[in-house]
Amino acid sequence: MIVNGVQQALSIVGRLFLDPGDNVILENLTYPGALAVFRSLQANCLGVPIDKDGLRLETIESILKHRKIKLIYTIPTYQNPTGSVLSSEKKKRLIELCQEHRIVIIEDDYAHELNLEGNEILPLKSLDESDCVIYMGSLSNLLFPGIRLSLITAPEHVIKKLAQIKQTSDLYTNKIIQAALLKFCQRGYLEKHLKKKRLQYRQRRDVMLDLMQKHFPEETAWQKAMGGIFQWVDIKCDIDTNLLFSMAKERGVLFAPDSLFLVDEWKRRGMRLSFANEDEDKISKGISTLGNLLKEIIKEC
Ligand SMILES: Cc1ncc(COP(=O)(O)O)c(C=O)c1O
Repeated sequence: MIVNGVQQALSIVGRLFLDPGDNVILENLTYPGALAVFRSLQANCLGVPIDKDGLRLETIESILKHRKIKLIYTIPTYQNPTGSVLSSEKKKRLIELCQEHRIVIIEDDYAHELNLEGNEILPLKSLDESDCVIYMGSLSNLLFPGIRLSLITAPEHVIKKLAQIKQTSDLYTNKIIQAALLKFCQRGYLEKHLKKKRLQYRQRRDVMLDLMQKHFPEETAWQKAMGGIFQWVDIKCDIDTNLLFSMAKERGVLFAPDSLFLVDEWKRRGMRLSFANEDEDKISKGISTLGNLLKEIIKEC
């Protein structure tokens, strides 16, 4: 089903499956747009830490021993904000767990096509033989956010119910934009655009990583973003990242601090840097400014 953005997809899926007080598991840290939807439906949001290879399944298993979980929201590929990718072993185990406990998984595959290393990562949905995964894909990061076109893949009986809920907020998704996009794809422009973007983002990411190596203090750590548009940086000491954000903003540099993505009290200090919008010159100035600020703040800690 075609919808107006993943945001609408999350909202209608949430309305179909969730009642107030239901437990939802999310990666901690996670996409704030999803958190806002589940909170607005008065769901009880439980954060599970993420490692380099994705969601920590032992934590989910221990939660399942004493709580009923209705839904798991995950971004298995180029997780926002940490960039982690759920390993194949964990994908299989997560699906088994959800089948066993009758949990619905929402897979948000918002940046699937933006693989920067050439190797396409298969979605969780591709392993889903029991229809427990509701898959969402978006054009916002591939083309531009204003296009507001996304898709939901789910079993037919679920799609029918979702369509009824969608119709209560808009009768259908803009058909003129869909027709224009169809022509765009048929003429091969989407493929060309993606090729160009992958190359540009890879170059910008590499420039960013080189400069981080040069300017960032030893209290920071990162894993190279393998895809998507964000580079996550862990900060290994307890500095105030909101203060860092305000100081950086005064100097003309923006990033997204950990606090924006937090599900609960558990802390993971860090910042999400975007390599999508600015050219290499601006990235260079931004990283050296951030590096100096980080050293200043960490010294005072
Ligand atoms: C994890 C995630 N999901 C979805 C979206 C986009 O959603 P939409 O299709 O509503 O623009 C984003 C945008 O950056 C995102 O980071």
